[in-house]
Amino acid sequence: MLPASSTPLMLRHDADLTPFNTLALPARARMLAHIRSADDARRLAGDAALRGERRFVLGGGSNLVLDGDFDGLVLKAEIAGRALVAEEDGYRVVAAGAGEIWHDFVQWTLTQGWPGLENLSLIPGTVGAAPIQNIGAYGLELAERFHSLTAIDLGSGETKTLDLAACRFGYRDSVFKQEGWHRDGRMLVSEVRFRLPLRWQPNTRYADVAGELAARGIAEPTPRAVADAVIAVRQRKLPDPAVLPNAGSFFQNPVVDAATAASLAAAHPALPRYAQADGRVKLAAGWLIEAAGWKGRSLGPVGMYEKQALVLVNRGAARGGDVRALAAAVQADVAARFGVTLVPEPIYLCVA
Ligand code: EPU
Repeated sequence: MLPASSTPLMLRHDADLTPFNTLALPARARMLAHIRSADDARRLAGDAALRGERRFVLGGGSNLVLDGDFDGLVLKAEIAGRALVAEEDGYRVVAAGAGEIWHDFVQWTLTQGWPGLENLSLIPGTVGAAPIQNIGAYGLELAERFHSLTAIDLGSGETKTLDLAACRFGYRDSVFKQEGWHRDGRMLVSEVRFRLPLRWQPNTRYADVAGELAARGIAEPTPRAVADAVIAVRQRKLPDPAVLPNAGSFFQNPVVDAATAASLAAAHPALPRYAQADGRVKLAAGWLIEAAGWKGRSLGPVGMYEKQALVLVNRGAARGGDVRALAAAVQADVAARFGVTLVPEPIYLCVA
């Protein structure tokens, strides 16, 4: 267990959420609670005055579209802490508080000499948000390094432990999304535990990472070298939200049945396709968006990024409605051209 704090619950009224979402969309919350310990979450669950309030759990706000003001209570997960918990069955179990910054936590594990998460370097957001959409990049998904998590039921105040099976992870998916626990503010992740292999092997399957290591003349990479290669690839393709507000990939890569993939491949041989374990085929949404003419193109103050068409960027003073309009236009064009439905990756938080 990470240390519990006993500071008083910090509750603000009419709070500005603009600094807490990486698309920099303007929005206010009627109430904002800074959750700095699991006890804070339990106390809030037991507070009769807050019962019945609409709730939303916020992490780093890097996978979020704020579509107007929120007439309810936003819980900002800020629980800190990092610790080695155990060594068992060839793995280290490392715990981190939900509010830890994901990238800082990954770099800390590497500094400790505990590799395994390096391919997920530089992903924006917090540790607590990572399992919600099963973050993944450069040949690794969180699920492959996941041990368990602790969550507080914000209705009953109960503490629950969810193991790998209970989280029902899929591509950018988990039980939190399937059941709507996160969006409805029903469960707050307080701590996540990772299972890091004692016998490490570099994961350089992803062509961009292999290419970057080759360009650096590194044949037998250390964990640090893999992390540095991933960071370099990300920095080349993905805009820094601090400079150009964005929420990473704006759409999921669509997964279609084998017959649909075969007919698309016949018509568009260059379309990148990735066979899935269940026989279906994942398509590169970025390619579809580029082919539909949206790469580097804007609609009002928002646009699809010129170096990676899957990333929606805020080039000015955009509002939630601008994001919705561009997303709908891109979806319509891709559907008309390829018959493929693009599903947004971020969570939309709408006005009540
Ligand atoms: N592509 C294009 N044009 C574009 C963008 C991509 O043709 O404008 C093609 C690329 O040439 C490549 C393929 O699409 O053949 C895949 O592109 P890339 O390697 O950039 O990855 P992605 O599928 O677009 C996914 C994740 C990213 C993750 C990268 C690397 C999703 C929705 N996105 O993007 O995750 O960093 O792979 O593993 O699965 C995120 O979720 O926010 C995110 C950034």
